[in-house]
Amino acid sequence: MKQAILHIDKHFLLGEVDKRIYGSFAEHLGRCVYGGIYQPGQATADEFGFRQDVLSLVRELGVPVVRYPGGNFVSGYYWEDGVGPRDLRPSKAELAWGVIETNRFGTDEFAAWCRQAGAQPMMAVNLGTRGIADAKNLLEYCNFKEGTHYSDMRIQNGSRQPHDIKLWCLGNEMDGPWQIGRKTAYEYGRLAAETSRVMKTLDPDIETVACGSSFWQMPGFGKWESDVLSECYDTVDYLSLHQYYGNRENNTPDYLASNIAMDRFIGEVVSICDAEKAKARSQKTIHLSFDEWNVWYHSNDQKAERWSVAPRQLEDVYNFEDALLAGSMLITLLRHSDRVKIACMAQLVNVIAPIMTSDAAAWKQTIFFPFAYTSRYGRGTALQSAVDAPVYETKNLGEVPVLDIVPVWDGEAETLTLFAVNKDLAEDVTLRCDLRQFGDYRIIEHIVLTHDDMKVVNTEISPETVSPRAAGRSSAENGALTAVLGKHSWNMVRLGKSGRKEQVFIECQ
Ligand code: AHR
Repeated sequence: MKQAILHIDKHFLLGEVDKRIYGSFAEHLGRCVYGGIYQPGQATADEFGFRQDVLSLVRELGVPVVRYPGGNFVSGYYWEDGVGPRDLRPSKAELAWGVIETNRFGTDEFAAWCRQAGAQPMMAVNLGTRGIADAKNLLEYCNFKEGTHYSDMRIQNGSRQPHDIKLWCLGNEMDGPWQIGRKTAYEYGRLAAETSRVMKTLDPDIETVACGSSFWQMPGFGKWESDVLSECYDTVDYLSLHQYYGNRENNTPDYLASNIAMDRFIGEVVSICDAEKAKARSQKTIHLSFDEWNVWYHSNDQKAERWSVAPRQLEDVYNFEDALLAGSMLITLLRHSDRVKIACMAQLVNVIAPIMTSDAAAWKQTIFFPFAYTSRYGRGTALQSAVDAPVYETKNLGEVPVLDIVPVWDGEAETLTLFAVNKDLAEDVTLRCDLRQFGDYRIIEHIVLTHDDMKVVNTEISPETVSPRAAGRSSAENGALTAVLGKHSWNMVRLGKSGRKEQVFIECQ
């Protein structure tokens, strides 16, 4: 059997895990909102039209923050269309996705839905077709207590208390040729700086996210980040990253290595941010918001009828190997806990999502599981680690380790949790780690997600084909951890003073 050694030290801290790295994203796109989170008349929907079957899965998934309303959608969005009496709300041609937007769901519904989900809203403003004034008006609508045009409008629309939204995205993917109102880096950097400054004048407690490149392969990647930050470094708090992966060449070993590209991408953006910090002679550090990440390719050929309402779009059905990569991407985010403070799996329901719905039911896609466990137990401090593990050769990334692994230590609860993916398709790997420094830690549980068929999926009629089991082979005796990480498996090994316990799923937003 292959062998690996993990070296950790509880004094070598990488960074506090910000729970907002377990965020999600709900765009007005396809059936994410309509038929996903909102479907009046559906059997489980409450009086607001919020599907309770979906909400209960969203709570189990554990998403402390949800980005909204886009995505590409936001660049043509008039938020005023989505507030007030529903009968008066206009239907409009939505250019980003070529559909009709009915505006039955809008800002107030989203804020109310977030309260039920136990999540904090992360609101995006339209910097495509609109600008500073409209961003300020939306902020006033959401956060100003009372006595102004927009705050009183919110109260009249039924929300006495402010929505108190603290996290704001300054547009979306503004370098993309597909983006409505695309900008040059200079145009966008200036607009982001002024929008952020004006918004913070109205509410100094908010944080803002400037758009980085739409994805790593964009021809302007690197220069875009520098040019944008050189205009807005002082007024924004985060820079965004977006990236999707897919097994388009049906080369599973290479596909499973994609998160190593994500690791490198994050490292590069950190370097650019710090170069701008040096140039500006600034004391301030820009942190990262990886606010769109996932697998996206299964639905590439899905066609929606033009100008229809909430058609099926981007409905990727995820298989088992996608769950392994999603687990590895979460490990990558944790490995950058010092700089990645926000991340959003894109998206939440139906559209490239961990949760799928029909009119009758809601179920978990394969990628749901690594996310739910990592969100629930990956809280505390990520530790630095060195791993001696076997490697394999890939076409695009060279040699990569067969194991992805990150330790998360919760000093208060006295637990150490290892998240690990074994990408070897043929062999188990035995992992050893010297834990004597932690005291008498025992195994609490070792949860495994694996399947013989890399392409198997969960469906409405067979929703648990891929699901985790507490079947891990691991032991911790006298400070020596031995864990067998089965071939092609995602693993969570939890250790603590108290030893083996029943697995408990707790709410932890
Ligand atoms: O998540 C789907 C789309 O991907 C988003 O609208 C856009 O921001 C990105 O290109």
